[in-house]
Amino acid sequence: MQISGELWRRFAHARRVVVLTGAGVSAESGVPTFRGGGNTTVWKGMPFDVISSAAMVERDLPAVWEWFDYRRGFMAAIEPNPAHYEIARWQNRFAEFTLVTQNIDGLHQKAGSRDVTELHGNIWRARCTVCRFSHDNSSGMKRPDACLECGNFLRPDVVLFGEMLPPGAFEFAAERAAECELCFVIGTSGLVYPAAGLPEIAKAADAYVVEVNPERTPLSDLCDEVLTGNAGDLLPLFSK
Ligand code: APR
Repeated sequence: MQISGELWRRFAHARRVVVLTGAGVSAESGVPTFRGGGNTTVWKGMPFDVISSAAMVERDLPAVWEWFDYRRGFMAAIEPNPAHYEIARWQNRFAEFTLVTQNIDGLHQKAGSRDVTELHGNIWRARCTVCRFSHDNSSGMKRPDACLECGNFLRPDVVLFGEMLPPGAFEFAAERAAECELCFVIGTSGLVYPAAGLPEIAKAADAYVVEVNPERTPLSDLCDEVLTGNAGDLLPLFSK
């Protein structure tokens, strides 16, 4: 897979860079994707978008925790891959670097990325169902039985189906996308909005938009360049 001279030139001179990642960036670490490339998941006969929904939190919070604790169980042993490490290097390379992820696995942070804008929350945090106070729920830590602030039930601090994104996260990402010169779209099917709208905002602001994905997506046509392949193979090429 060739990186064009145009992209090399822009990569060398860009100051404001935005990266949007999806499940595909973690596929090579062993995290199943939701739709393309890896195997999709169901839990005890329930489709993903049923067990991972706001309605299920209302109906059966213990079942939701059982599902998330199962995912936390196997994610605890998962390590970042070369794509995560390359992206972490970019934060020191560009004057204004913004990393926006749809992933809840925390692998960007594990690879050394700072200030990650998490559009869909994080599986290593728990949030109060009433006061929204966020609690550290890292692997190996015993989760508090109730909110340490108000005593109400805790739920995963993850955006579930039927829920809004965390306040301010998308707005911040959209602002950065509207100002960036170079935008990378890595490992996302581009089917879920508003996240998939970020490359469109960057494109409308004349940024050079680059997709990294082994498959074409609905975003491919708006991209200036499509790098077809696995992120773990392609991204380290930028450090060569
Ligand atoms: N490198 C790059 N891309 C990859 C790789 C890889 N090694 N393996 C798979 N992909 C691509 C697939 O081709 C697909 O286009 O990653 C994409 C994964 O798509 P989805 O499974 O739809 O994941 P994502 O786009 O992150 O989903 C968005 O949907 O279900 C919700 O909240 C969930 O955050 C998620 C959101």
